[in-house]
Amino acid sequence: MEALQTYFLPLLYFLLINVSVTSPSNAARALISPPSPSFSKIKAVNLGGWLVTEGWIKPSLFDAIPNKDLLDGTQLQFKSATQNMYLCAESGGGAAIVANRSSASGWETFRLWRITENTFKLRVFNKQFVGLDSEGQGTNTVVAVSDSPNAVGTTFEIVRNSNNANLVRIKAPNGLYLQAKTSVSVTADFPEGTNWGNDDPSVFLMNIVGTMQGEFQLTNGYGTEKATSILKEHWSSFIVEEDFDFTSKNGLNGVRIPVGWWIASDPTPPWPFVGGSLEALDNAFSWSEKYGLKVIIDLHAAPGSQNGNEHSASRDGSQEWGTTDDNIDQTVRVIDFLAARYGRMPSLLAIELMNEPLAPGVTLDSLQRYYTAGYDAVRKHSADAFVIMSNRLSAPSSTELLGFAGGFRGSVVDVHYYNLYSDVFDSFTAQQNIDYVNTNRSADLSAVTRANGPLIFIGEWVAEWQVKGASKEEYQKFAAAELNVFGGATFGWSYWTLKNVYNHWSLKWMITNGYIKL
Ligand SMILES: *[C@@H]1O[C@H](CO)[C@@H](O)[C@H](O)[C@H]1NC(C)=O
Ligand SMILES: *[C@@H]1O[C@H](CO)[C@@H](O)[C@H](O)[C@H]1NC(C)=O
Repeated sequence: MEALQTYFLPLLYFLLINVSVTSPSNAARALISPPSPSFSKIKAVNLGGWLVTEGWIKPSLFDAIPNKDLLDGTQLQFKSATQNMYLCAESGGGAAIVANRSSASGWETFRLWRITENTFKLRVFNKQFVGLDSEGQGTNTVVAVSDSPNAVGTTFEIVRNSNNANLVRIKAPNGLYLQAKTSVSVTADFPEGTNWGNDDPSVFLMNIVGTMQGEFQLTNGYGTEKATSILKEHWSSFIVEEDFDFTSKNGLNGVRIPVGWWIASDPTPPWPFVGGSLEALDNAFSWSEKYGLKVIIDLHAAPGSQNGNEHSASRDGSQEWGTTDDNIDQTVRVIDFLAARYGRMPSLLAIELMNEPLAPGVTLDSLQRYYTAGYDAVRKHSADAFVIMSNRLSAPSSTELLGFAGGFRGSVVDVHYYNLYSDVFDSFTAQQNIDYVNTNRSADLSAVTRANGPLIFIGEWVAEWQVKGASKEEYQKFAAAELNVFGGATFGWSYWTLKNVYNHWSLKWMITNGYIKL
């Protein structure tokens, strides 16, 4: 609240704030002055992969990490050379590790927590960490019983064969190697020497079945010092002033900027995150003002991760946001920080409280509690910024937030429309994709658009599909259909994204090469 006192505020605004602070009812909120009547629909582009790392957008960011295929969240399966069977956390965790599975899926998959470039914690399906038994089954028995990563004896070294990086031995904290003695006995008691042969029970064939390349992976992979210089260079070169000029000259009027929760503790965010993204966001605001663009700040990565994806800075695929009130309070403080810093900037259009919370891990109840508090945090600092509430991914109904969000003046609901991420689209032709946009997406959009409901924002879409080898003309027709239908969104839309090594995902490339004309 200190920041408020340094600003001149109209008396009415003060009164209303005090009402809403003491009694955050919908009635009080409705009294707060409405968003500017001069609002015109937003046609924006996302600045994805800039202030929140996404390796697929710019893979070269990860090039210089040692042992870069073993980052946090990498999913591994281990097949015993002697048993010809996969290691398995029996029951998914809470019991011993066995070596009796002929095929591998969830219980046979281990997720890495990277400690150093060669040492790791191994997390099993039910989230326990692999360690050595301290009671009962014998001190060298390998088990997955510890819920805490801080438990002693849970750090293992993965030693790779120098000729075949997928042939490995696993050195336990007792200095000895894991061996699959029998199909039901995995112990850490094999000595140093090995011939790497099929007769060596300490040799395993390692399959990498999943990888993550987000902010956590990058910062922990490089370590704080190196990550700081890599990211400073990225922040100052990936998106530059010229991009704002380009955006404003090509029929767009705004940018949606994904940020991570750690930006609120810049310049010294909690490990492993590094400082400096706040300065880049400051630059984005001054360039937006210079080129007449509106800014939507989008909290893309919330503490604990709201969807388990790399783009929400998850460490290992776990989704933990919203499981505690602390978590929610911490996120509200991030919104409060952003609103305090940018709430009075003329180019601020909206603050999006959270991108893509995933159901059912994020419950509707915890999300609504957060959205209520987050809305109030924005209104403490801005009477007229829009407040965007993202629909839950995998929600049972796309309309579940409408009644709730409609109770807040200046609220917007964000929906993301991709002709991807569902097997529905696997076999679609170009024309079927276009028909789907014209028929089904317009119906989806109508279903969420209500006369007295919140405004609707299509905060992410792209002119990309699963069609192989489509022609430029087909892409043009697809993009035109999307622009036509998504133009009906009452708040507007934002393309994902401005720059990307994959051309169709780069609006800059699509415009420059004549695929999209606005
Ligand atoms: C693997 O071994 C465990 C422990 O003896 C046993 O409970 C389980 O049924 C075995 N599973 C298979 C597929 O053989
Ligand atoms: C798209 O909408 C049409 C018309 O309502 C419907 O028949 C069709 O099943 C829908 N397609 C998909 C993939 O849902």
